[in-house]
Amino acid sequence: MATMMMPMPRPLCFHLSETVVSTRSTDKHQPPRSCTQKQPRFLSQTANSCKSNHSSSPPQSTTLDQARSLVDDFNPKIPIEQALTPPTSWYTDPTFFSLELDRVFYRGWQAVGYTDQVKEARDYFTGRLANVEYVVCRDDNGKLQAFHNVCRHHASVLASGCGKRSCFVCPYHSDSAMPIGSMRGATKGKVNKTGLPTLPTEARVVWFDPGWTYGLEGKLLKATRITGIQNFNVDEFGLLPLEVAIWGPFVLLNLERDTVPQQESQNLVGDQWLGSSMGVLNANGVDSSLNFVCRREYTIECNWKVFCDNYLDGGYHVPYAHKGLASGLTLESYSTTMYEKVSIQRCDVGQGETQEDFDRLGSKALYAFIYPNFMINRYGPWMDTNLVLPLGHRKCQVIFDYFVDASLTDDDAFIESSLKESEKVQMEDIVLCEAVQRGLESPAYCTGRYAPTVEKAMHHFHCLLHENLAS
Ligand code: FES
Repeated sequence: MATMMMPMPRPLCFHLSETVVSTRSTDKHQPPRSCTQKQPRFLSQTANSCKSNHSSSPPQSTTLDQARSLVDDFNPKIPIEQALTPPTSWYTDPTFFSLELDRVFYRGWQAVGYTDQVKEARDYFTGRLANVEYVVCRDDNGKLQAFHNVCRHHASVLASGCGKRSCFVCPYHSDSAMPIGSMRGATKGKVNKTGLPTLPTEARVVWFDPGWTYGLEGKLLKATRITGIQNFNVDEFGLLPLEVAIWGPFVLLNLERDTVPQQESQNLVGDQWLGSSMGVLNANGVDSSLNFVCRREYTIECNWKVFCDNYLDGGYHVPYAHKGLASGLTLESYSTTMYEKVSIQRCDVGQGETQEDFDRLGSKALYAFIYPNFMINRYGPWMDTNLVLPLGHRKCQVIFDYFVDASLTDDDAFIESSLKESEKVQMEDIVLCEAVQRGLESPAYCTGRYAPTVEKAMHHFHCLLHENLAS
């Protein structure tokens, strides 16, 4: 749950005495899919009988073919009332994770940042999605650009962090072959706006060549000490482009398309990214009118999907795990609507315990999940986004960006208290997610069931994932 009031229910307290268990065992529509039929390595049969096949050590996947065989261990055609959740292998198998990177994260539009990060010419920010290092910038003409953030010489990551640059200078092979002492006075680690070391006045007379240098439009501008090189065409050694686009306040990348970016219109990108939910988000204040407040990052010891599942449980866990948050929500009003690759959960906000709660949450909260890993939470004067980055099969990073109505930008007390409430919810969710990951790795668990009235968005997510992985 990402927000100052995000829902996040994974049934941690699933009571096996409930009817769902007996329903599964007699379900003709759901022959204990894969678990019983394929017996994947470390998968067990059913929710009750995993022990014989389950290893206590991490799964030793070896091939992508094996990973592909795990995809059909979830059957998206089975209605949620009868369906089993994806098996533990989807959350614990390193090779399955590799398949996900290839099929899910390296395809289609992925949210990577917000427009204020590249508001003016020469603004840039960097990031990493799975194994892809990227840099997004505005060139001198104000055109949005994005590239693989990798030097074409020997592959060093080129730029880091964010800020302003007139060019990107590789930090690896600078030519500092100047007389010893001539650099005396250089301020180690400090660079000026162009990325060159900051030198005192007396040292600036010294000849100094930086590493390979690229313009903001990707061209290789300078390659030091390559005298004698043959068959080298400078035009062939620019930064490799990525397709970049903007929708509303968000910056998107498409890692699949490595041709020269076309910069499609916002509506076209919005249609591809959000489908028919675009109008709903527009109508509910998901736009560029809010001011960026701050970013917070959390590293969580769980598979990236555990965090997503938690977000998508229709508020199931909120009354138990987030009592403070629950007191401000009218949970009976919770509703979930599915669109092509988006699900939107809504909840009315009650009066809460204090006026401050009401000021912070407003009268309605909207939680949008954009497949595969981006969440937009809009409530009262706030919007926060949660970007879930996979770091490994049992580790992810979640980046929270907070935005507030312009009228409150200077209200430090309000902002501080709201962020404090949000932080509390995140800490509660991290505990839940890490506990689920450990449970998924336990021999006691193979697969679970859905609570059909509330976990529709989670089921939708798993079906989209299956479609994506099976394609
Ligand atoms: S790797 Fe960039 S200059 Fe050598």
